[in-house]
Amino acid sequence: MDRELRNNIANPLDRYLLRKNKPIVLVTRPISKVGLNILKTDCEIIINRKNAPLPYRELMNNVKGVDAILCFLNDKIDKQIIDVAGRSLKVISTFSTGYEHIDVSEALRREIRIGYTGDILTETTADLGFGLMLCVGRRLVEADKYLRKGKWKYGWNPDLMIGMDLHHKTLGVIGMGKIGRAICRRAVGFGMKILFTKRNYNQNDIGNDKMLDKLEYCNLQTLVSDSDYIVICCTLNKDSYHLIDYEKIKLMKNNACLVNISRGKIVKEKDLIRGLKENLIAGAGLDVFEDEPIQSNNPLLKMHNVVLLPHIGSASFDTRNKMAEIAALNIVHVLKGQEDKALLLK
Ligand code: DGY
Repeated sequence: MDRELRNNIANPLDRYLLRKNKPIVLVTRPISKVGLNILKTDCEIIINRKNAPLPYRELMNNVKGVDAILCFLNDKIDKQIIDVAGRSLKVISTFSTGYEHIDVSEALRREIRIGYTGDILTETTADLGFGLMLCVGRRLVEADKYLRKGKWKYGWNPDLMIGMDLHHKTLGVIGMGKIGRAICRRAVGFGMKILFTKRNYNQNDIGNDKMLDKLEYCNLQTLVSDSDYIVICCTLNKDSYHLIDYEKIKLMKNNACLVNISRGKIVKEKDLIRGLKENLIAGAGLDVFEDEPIQSNNPLLKMHNVVLLPHIGSASFDTRNKMAEIAALNIVHVLKGQEDKALLLK
């Protein structure tokens, strides 16, 4: 049975009837059939069919007595939600690689398992990061808008939409995890010189990938000063919060393009806006923001030299289907006592 959330305290009797059969999973937003079908085989599903996050209060009203929650980055799974869910809750599975929206220590303390989608989005996110660099450097979005507005009057024009090459420029990669390395592999193909920085770096971090043997490790100051393109791939934590602020932006080259495909809070957005206004750097490509969705009065929206995307790094059909599959399987495996098959936080 697949029951929609109603407006919205699910009837306790319905819940009782559900419970007699199979474990109950609360799915907080629609997911593709691939994931739903996996869940349907072994579980009863309570699903929010609206393509919008459940307001916190509704989440709370529907979580009581469930065995599992399949949630998303926008669902705040805090101590209170975990409390209300109660002792039946065995697994929280997030349809994401990030899990900063979950009170991990509280869940683990109660031996509730936390599933996530691991590295499945690495290559797709790296594609997007590379696309953003090309869009900003070569002014692709700006050029498209120009043409659509009917401003293209004279055919080929020697000084129309001049931008910055990507090939053979210097790329600075902040964070040399899986996505950082995937970006670097693409950059090698473009003949770029690659600098990178990483917390607690050791030589094994770039593995045995022969393609990456020319990478240069440096500190953040050198990276931001010497790079033409800077791409942020590190995770958000207390050290990376506002890592890129006005001081770092001042060190950047005037022709530099900053790309963020990680988390918005790594960049101090108000400093970036100031830096762009003062022409300290040439442009930015952002898939993530300090506040999501972006507020309608955000000055970035008025800037022509930035490309802004609504957090779509992993948004390819293949990857999103894979994410749905992994998120669903993580639940089923835990509920069946096959934790070794699930992707779980330790
Ligand atoms: C994640 O999964 O953490 C991404 O930011 C969204 O796909």
